[in-house]
Amino acid sequence: MSDQSSAIEVCVAGTGSYVPERILSNEELSTMVDTSDEWIVTRTGIRERRIAADDEFTSHLASKAALKALEQAGMQAADIELIIVATITPDTPTPATACYVQQQIGAARAVAFDISAACSGFLYAMKIAKRLISDGAFQNALIIGAEKLSTVTNWDDRSTCVLFGDGAGAAVLRRAEAGEGAIVATEMGTDGNLTHLLEIPGGGSAKPITAENVNQHLHTLSMQGREVFKIAVTRMKEAAEKVIERAGWSADDIACVIPHQANLRIIDAIADRLAVPNERVFVNLDKYGNTSAAAVAIALDEANRTGAFKRGDHIVLVAFGAGLTWAAAAIRW
Ligand code: ACO
Repeated sequence: MSDQSSAIEVCVAGTGSYVPERILSNEELSTMVDTSDEWIVTRTGIRERRIAADDEFTSHLASKAALKALEQAGMQAADIELIIVATITPDTPTPATACYVQQQIGAARAVAFDISAACSGFLYAMKIAKRLISDGAFQNALIIGAEKLSTVTNWDDRSTCVLFGDGAGAAVLRRAEAGEGAIVATEMGTDGNLTHLLEIPGGGSAKPITAENVNQHLHTLSMQGREVFKIAVTRMKEAAEKVIERAGWSADDIACVIPHQANLRIIDAIADRLAVPNERVFVNLDKYGNTSAAAVAIALDEANRTGAFKRGDHIVLVAFGAGLTWAAAAIRW
């Protein structure tokens, strides 16, 4: 699904992120399942991930990230008109995690809802919020990717438990003034024929929570890693190319690519296919693993705060996840 031009431009006014304190290293994981630091680093690039405390929920991670984004944007929570939380690990199936966030940060005026698009969720939220602002429905929005994937990880399955982590990232979007940056192009897509490649099969209406389903780990993430890998490379490359083309840019014009942080080999393959040098591709999966909807959001915030790009630079965000879903955005910062 592509962009169409709209009169009102929308900028990213601030970013924020938060990760839990507890670090789970590859070495520690090697004492839990039959794996090694060497296997995990070679196959994925991940060295450690963060694990939220029992009393630290997805909404808490999201709210902490949101408050930092608001601070950078120079805005108060009370000013926010729309909150979208992208997550596959909501605090509760209902109400939406966005409602808890609204209460926790004191954004009393905001309309709040969740979306579920797995690792692509933050960029789906960006497109939705951008359109709702540019159409005039809202002046601003807080978009958040937040996950407590440790609660849906099968800690006995070495093929998946080494991959995931917890965290949250947020961005404040608002109408851009003349001369400010803008979200120039967005793209998103879905292939529902491939739902089986990456799923949490239980806990919904198809296979409700029962003791038997939980014993079979149906409430945890299962993935056909090799298949997902191949499709991720193709779809992310295509989505990134579409927004680059629609923005009227070439690879040389791009200061920073911020890809979904799932696997360093996937990131390297995409950088190669887009002909963007590795030093212009932002990577932090070594510290956090794959945090699904939070991954691109945390990476955007870290890239922003560490000076990986500056005002006026062209950046490209691209993600891929369960659904299967994919999305990209081209932003003039
Ligand atoms: N430690 C040691 N050995 C392992 C581990 C482990 N943690 N996990 C698997 N192995 C073994 C397997 O058993 C297999 O052994 P065998 O050859 O004796 O059968 C061997 O390693 C190779 O397994 P593969 O699954 O083929 O390994 P692969 O190179 O494909 O790497 C990985 C697996 C890392 C999961 C990769 O396929 C991948 O990154 N896929 C994409 C994941 C992704 O991008 N997900 C995105 C979205 S996530 C979301 O939406 C929530």
